[in-house]
Amino acid sequence: MINDSFLVTIERILPGGVGLGHLEGKTAFVSLAAAGDRVRIRVDREKGNLLYASIVEIIESSPDRIEPPCPYFGRCGGCDFQQLNYAAQLKAKADIIRDCLHRIAGLDFPDITIVPSPSEWQYRARATWQLDSSEQTFGYYERSSRNVCDVAQCAVLVPSLQSTLEQVRNTAPEDLPGHLKHLDAVVGDNGVSLAPAFDSFHTSELTLRVKHENYTYNAEAFFQVNQQLLDQIVDFALLDVAGDTAVDLYCGVGLFTLPLARRFKSVIGVEANPVATRFARRNLQQAQLSNAQIVTATVTDWVRSNKNRPDTVDFVLLDPPRAGAESAVIKGILDARPSRISYVSCDPATLARDLKKLVAGGFRVESLRGFDMFPQTHHVETIVHLVL
Ligand SMILES: C[S@@+](CC[C@H](N)C(=O)[O-])C[C@H]1O[C@@H](n2cnc3c(N)ncnc32)[C@H](O)[C@@H]1O
Repeated sequence: MINDSFLVTIERILPGGVGLGHLEGKTAFVSLAAAGDRVRIRVDREKGNLLYASIVEIIESSPDRIEPPCPYFGRCGGCDFQQLNYAAQLKAKADIIRDCLHRIAGLDFPDITIVPSPSEWQYRARATWQLDSSEQTFGYYERSSRNVCDVAQCAVLVPSLQSTLEQVRNTAPEDLPGHLKHLDAVVGDNGVSLAPAFDSFHTSELTLRVKHENYTYNAEAFFQVNQQLLDQIVDFALLDVAGDTAVDLYCGVGLFTLPLARRFKSVIGVEANPVATRFARRNLQQAQLSNAQIVTATVTDWVRSNKNRPDTVDFVLLDPPRAGAESAVIKGILDARPSRISYVSCDPATLARDLKKLVAGGFRVESLRGFDMFPQTHHVETIVHLVL
């Protein structure tokens, strides 16, 4: 069926952001679709009964569909939801979370709230740009490819990152370091930090105030993409938790460690990136919080060793990368039996996989909320509270 074309109706948006269609007893996953579209598709790849397809013609447009405003849309791998109006993007994200929780974890949540981003555009305060020096292209990877899409204007970047993108693009090729393949950029209250540093572009230390706390970081450490939602994320992740001992797993520069240290007698943050742990310690020190300790280790190593492990834990916050928590980490949490867990996730599928284990181990999902940290893409942040 490869390269053949067929007519399908898109039923809904699935995890991964693709549209679902059915034809001749097969399931089609259609890129850049909208629920309700009637489209002619071309099959790009086939695996058993599954067809991976692209739209070649829109026969009947979904009411959710809008004209994607970005000239790179479809080629650039950055955004895959620009064809949807914003209400449809939020609905698709609720569907994606619901679908993963039902299918992977056997958990049913009919009503899922997605907190919208205050800005649908110009929200992205962190980016990784790719450079192909032989093609002289600078921007983002193309969809499903390692070719670099040359992007002069990115509509989701905050204005200061857009102007940094332009400054880097205006740098003469001979002034770019020969080994440069990609650049990490992040914004703070006092400017932009780039890694690696070169020419007049510095890995500057930035500061940002989030809910009464000051954070210092640079482009070598993780920082959340959408800074407009951080107050709400911290509020919902922590609710009114308080007690003796809290653990902040995958703590980065301490976004949650600082507020936790104000509510718990003792806090341990665990993070693998030594640049991030250096900032986390500094952020605690500047906030005069001496009751929190930061461990530089993978969470798996920390869970497996007995070093710096509290005897009892009241609260665990975990905010792993997209891959979710390693099996040993979930086992460690189950062994520690905290009375409450807050799971902050940027991938509903790995979240569901981990929740299934936590629920089988005796925890109950108390509440759940989605946050639209990444408008114009299918990605969504989810925070889940679990209790024993
Ligand atoms: C999604 S970020 C969360 C960071 C922090 N909680 C925040 O909100 O800024 C995930 C963090 O996990 C770290 N990380 C990734 N794999 C890890 C591992 N196996 N063990 C410990 N930290 C890890 C990354 O360096 C990153 O800082």
